[in-house]
Amino acid sequence: MPTKISDILSHFTQGNSSELIPILQAVQAEYGFISEESVYEISEYLNIPSSKIYGVATFYAQFRLQPPGRHVINLCTGTACHVKGSEKLIPVFEQELKCKAGETTKDGRFTLNLVACLGACALSPVVNIDSDFYGNLTAGEIKKILRKYK
Ligand code: FES
Repeated sequence: MPTKISDILSHFTQGNSSELIPILQAVQAEYGFISEESVYEISEYLNIPSSKIYGVATFYAQFRLQPPGRHVINLCTGTACHVKGSEKLIPVFEQELKCKAGETTKDGRFTLNLVACLGACALSPVVNIDSDFYGNLTAGEIKKILRKYK
């Protein structure tokens, strides 16, 4: 059972607005995204307007305001993967999934993220889906790989 938001907040100092980002990180780590309910609870706890929290959460690409898909795709665009053509794989994923990078498919099956180095540069270009890694990825393999995830 997920931790309650109030339990997460209890690790931070009430009214200390400088703790907003670590709180947002902790909430997202627990729930996978920052819900409207979380924003209101954080707003009360830190005594800052929810509009400011939304402002911060939308400014930083790391924060997600919608629940992630059942499978999370992290396509690496770090330097080694970039050099090996990872940018060319982005439109292939977008076309297969019919959603843009940073979005979740309409059926909630996948979320497509672009991320910095996944720590597997020797296998570049690399994509990570849930706990699986696919290295030396080519555009032609993407459709087949995605079929494994229902
Ligand atoms: S740059 Fe892609 S795994 Fe390191």
